[in-house]
Amino acid sequence: MLDLNHIRAQFPILKTKMSGKPLIYFDNAATTLKPQSVINDVTRILSSQSVNIHRGDYQLSYDISNEYEEARVSVAKFINADVNEIVFTSGATEGLNAIAYGLEHHLNEGDVILTTHTDHASNLLPWIEVAKRRKAKIEYFKLTEEGRIDLSKLDQALHSKVKFITLVHVSNVLGFINPVEDIIKMAHQRNMVVILDGAQSVAHIKMDVKALDVDFLAWSGHKMCSPTGVGVLYGKKEWLEQLKSIKLGGGSNAQFNEQGEVILKSVPTRFEAGTPAIESTIALKSALQFLDSVGMHHIHEHEVILKNHFLSKIQDFKHITVYNPSTDTGIVIFNVEGIFAQDAAAYLSSHGIAVRAGNHCAKLIHHVIGVTETLRASFYVYNTIDEVDHLVEVLRDITLEKCVDLYI
Ligand SMILES: Cc1ncc(COP(=O)(O)O)c(C=O)c1O
Repeated sequence: MLDLNHIRAQFPILKTKMSGKPLIYFDNAATTLKPQSVINDVTRILSSQSVNIHRGDYQLSYDISNEYEEARVSVAKFINADVNEIVFTSGATEGLNAIAYGLEHHLNEGDVILTTHTDHASNLLPWIEVAKRRKAKIEYFKLTEEGRIDLSKLDQALHSKVKFITLVHVSNVLGFINPVEDIIKMAHQRNMVVILDGAQSVAHIKMDVKALDVDFLAWSGHKMCSPTGVGVLYGKKEWLEQLKSIKLGGGSNAQFNEQGEVILKSVPTRFEAGTPAIESTIALKSALQFLDSVGMHHIHEHEVILKNHFLSKIQDFKHITVYNPSTDTGIVIFNVEGIFAQDAAAYLSSHGIAVRAGNHCAKLIHHVIGVTETLRASFYVYNTIDEVDHLVEVLRDITLEKCVDLYI
């Protein structure tokens, strides 16, 4: 059992109101709230240490550069990687783009990139573009009826033309944890490279990249209690060495001349051109400390308790359709009969409840669930059973008339 009073006291935003009601925040798959330690880092750095890193020959810059590198060490420990396998990015989107474009030169005509219909645009779009440029093909894993990767079809899916397998670890729509251990094992027996979109996994389940043996993993800091503007690209050293840098500029090169000869710095520095989000990156370390203090296993358990409670309470509601009743995480998608998802979300907002409505940036998901728009409630470590009960009560009585009344 989590000490929720202690946890919630660390998140000042939970004391604020929305629509005049206490805020109930269930949009954690979009972004998470920030604990005081993270806020303190940002204000401290902006107030008294807002200098650049790795460029200044003065004490303030040495200090802040050291803190920045300490954040890299913390991230490496958090996922059991080596420190030089950690590249800081602006978020999952930049990391996933860096991987697709950085590996592009390995693709030949007819090669196959294997992914899923449940993946996010940030993973699909870069590969769709790269496939067009290299005359390669995108193929999709066969899914079971409920939308899980069909392991009985894995052998056929991983045929000899497949070069890269790139997929979401935890679906931001269905909440399923993909069976990545099996996929990675079989892929490596066939010399394929596996890339994971960890945007919804690293902040929710314990991640050990060495045990998993994954080749690349990208995610965002803001979905794990850090500020926006920072993300992480993990790559096995041997694969980072083969990744072309899509971002060139100050800080990433050791030397260049007017003949166009460029010597890049070693990995990971060569991927970090330009001034990064310094305060966000340093605050990521505090976010990881917070998550570690709770424990990743406890966080996952807590989300599952909340989600099970929610599902059991709404299972008899005839006007609610849940599309992922067997979700493995705190992500639940549903619709209210006869009410457009955005209208229902606006109605919940008028009760202080924040949920997401729409396609959740996974525009191929309708192939799986048969609808394009849903409501999504996503629970996290600071949410309570009482908050879930409040959502249930508002959903019990929701009607089209009440939603429409909001606009009058
Ligand atoms: C599964 C998944 N991948 C990628 C992203 C993109 O993350 P960001 O917008 O932080 O780059 C998200 C964000 O919602 C996501 O849920």
